[in-house]
Parts: sequence; C-alpha cells; structure tokens
Amino acid sequence: MQPSTDWREQIADGETERFDKLAATIADIQKARAQRHPMGRALHYKAHGGLLATFRVLPDLPEWTRVGIFETPAEFPTYVRFSNGSGGFQRDTEPDVRGIAVKLVGVPGKKIIHPDAVTQDFLAILSPSGPFETPEEFVGLVHALSGNKFMALPRLIGTFGFRLGSVLGQLKKGLANQAASMVGPTFNSSLPIKWGDYAVKYSFEPLGFPTSEPVTERNGYRADLHKRLADGPVRFAFRVQGFVSEDKTPIEHYPTEWLEEDAPWVTVGELEIHQQASTEEETDGLAAYIESLVFDTWHAPEAFRPVGALQRARNHAYRDSSITRKAAPEPDGTERWHQTSSPDDSAAEA
Ligand code: HEM
Repeated sequence: MQPSTDWREQIADGETERFDKLAATIADIQKARAQRHPMGRALHYKAHGGLLATFRVLPDLPEWTRVGIFETPAEFPTYVRFSNGSGGFQRDTEPDVRGIAVKLVGVPGKKIIHPDAVTQDFLAILSPSGPFETPEEFVGLVHALSGNKFMALPRLIGTFGFRLGSVLGQLKKGLANQAASMVGPTFNSSLPIKWGDYAVKYSFEPLGFPTSEPVTERNGYRADLHKRLADGPVRFAFRVQGFVSEDKTPIEHYPTEWLEEDAPWVTVGELEIHQQASTEEETDGLAAYIESLVFDTWHAPEAFRPVGALQRARNHAYRDSSITRKAAPEPDGTERWHQTSSPDDSAAEA
C-alpha cells in the first residue's frame, strides 16, 4: 500500500515563545533535582546500559522508503541507550515509560541542528500513542509529578480539567506493559517524522526474545541486558508506517494511534546490539560516554525532520536539558571513551 504525501503540519503563531517556556519549566525541574542528586537528563534519567550496535539498511526496499541513508544498503556503527522515562532514579518495578535511544554514526549530508555532524538519532518508547493533546499537557504532567506531592492533584486538574480521569486511565493502560526485558517489547517513535516527501512513524521490533514475565528487581533491566548480551547479540527490526490520511493517521493528534490495518509496517533496517566488552573498565567507560551524549529526534537531515507540535516542542526541551547537563558534542567516529563519572546507581536512588 502506497502512503500519501498529502500530509500537513499546523504551526501556530507564537510557538517559539510557548515552547521556550515549556523547556524552561523542564530545565528548572532538572536543576532542582540536581541539588540532591547527580546532574543528569531532565527526563529518562536512569539508563539500563550504554551499548554498542550496528544499524543495517536492508536491500530491496520499496521505492517510497528509499530516502537518505535508506537509499542503498549500508551499515552504521551505532550507540544505544535504554532508559526509564522518569526524571528521577526509580526502581524498575515502578510503572514508568521505557525508552530506547539510538545514534547512528557516519551519516553523510547536512543535518538540521548541527549541520556538519555525521549522526542521525532515533528515539522510541513502548506506547504507540499517548493521551496528550498539546505540549502543554505533556509538560503539565511532568511538572505535576515532580516536587511536592500535595501539589500534584491541583496541578493535574489545572492541566487536564474534566479530561483528567480519562487521561489517567490511558496513562495507566500505557504503563501496564512492564515486561522483564528491554529486548522483549516493541518500541515506538509514537510521534511522526518526515521521510522524504512522506511522513512516517517508526518502531523497533525485537527479533527473538518474547517475554511475558514482569520485572521484579530494582535494577532488573540492566541485569537482564547484561545476561542476554553475554550470550550473544540481540536484534530489532526497524520498521516504518506511512501517513495515509489526516483521519486515520493524523500528524498533530497524538492520542490517535496509527493502526497497522490502515498504515502497514514495512521493515527497512535492522539494529543489532553487540555482545558487549567483558571487562568492567571498558563497559563502565562506554556507559559513561553514552551518558554524556545527547540523543535527540532533531539530530537528523532535513529529509527526516520531526513533525507535529509535540515534536517541535521537543526541539526546545532537549536543547535546554542537554545544555544544563553540559552534554558531550556529537561523536564523529574518532571518539574514545574513558571511565568518567555518571549518575551513580546507588547514590542517586531517590
Ligand atoms: C512522545 C514521544 C516521545 C518519545 C518517543 C520520547 C523519547 C525519549 C527518550 C527515549 C529519551 C531518552 C534519550 C536518551 O537516552 O538520551 C528522551 C529524553 C528526553 N525527553 Fe523525550 N520523548 C518524547 C516526548 C517528549 C516531549 C514531548 C518532551 C518535552 C516537550 C520530551 C522531553 C525530553 C527531555 C527533556 C529528555 C532529556 C534530553 C537530554 O537531556 O538529553 N520528550 N525522550
């Protein structure tokens, strides 16, 4: 099925000021937390490991998917970071968003944010859609859940009004999938990006590790990754589904999931996470280096520009968060990692 190129973004007046303000709200929460814990990301603070991988572009792709690096089969050295979504260091047994961040190195061409960088990032979480109608709602939730617990309810009512019950219901449902492994469930971009003249959502679908067990240990995901990667590499299929119509696959309406029956998935790549180094020194050095990097959906060539209001809001929030934590510059393939400090597991636990 051929997707449509007839998609549109709706860019409102005054977005820059609005999104700057939202980014500042998130950065304030990040700075406040850094008074008690090591400085780290404003969201997705806790990593389950920083890993080396290879991203492969597959041969014989459908014509419409042959854009940028997907024009011809190729392989890219890749960094991967799995995380919990919270801005704090909480146990893996707590319900939370789970994330995968993937950075390809060696990607040619001009990029949107750092024109000369040779990187392209893909970020995904478990939910294929979410309850937020606007970036203000997303940040309103983040704000309500940070700081004074007694302020949470009034802030939530202030943000969502009469929709609060249904929003909390959807969030609960979205967080219900707490599988014991980061290489068991499918991760979704959840928001669209451009794909040449088309617009797509993408996902990482694990190949070969179905899990139905729930996570039971406070750092269970890290332990599980360690165990699985000691046995050999793990692989994900990288898939895209194209926009077909504003009705079925809206660009700006995050709560509407793009269904497979309307927008079928096409596998265009493969992510292979390598069996990792066996010495602790190397593993820790790599993990600390990956902690210092910025994974950002806006690290991409124009042909893959993120689209929709939530994506545009992210363009401000990731910048502020990474500047606040003094993140490392983009890798160029010559980087070597050394053992440095990173948010420490036991010391940082809230
Ligand atoms: C709904 C789709 C979204 C997905 C799939 C997503 C995914 C992720 C992932 C996987 C990370 C961790 C990156 C890493 O490991 O370095 C992350 C970090 C972050 N996200 Fe999102 N996110 C989404 C929406 C948003 C929105 C709407 C905002 C705010 C407007 C936001 C703000 C942030 C911030 C501030 C960070 C930390 C950035 C850093 O310091 O490097 N995210 N996100």
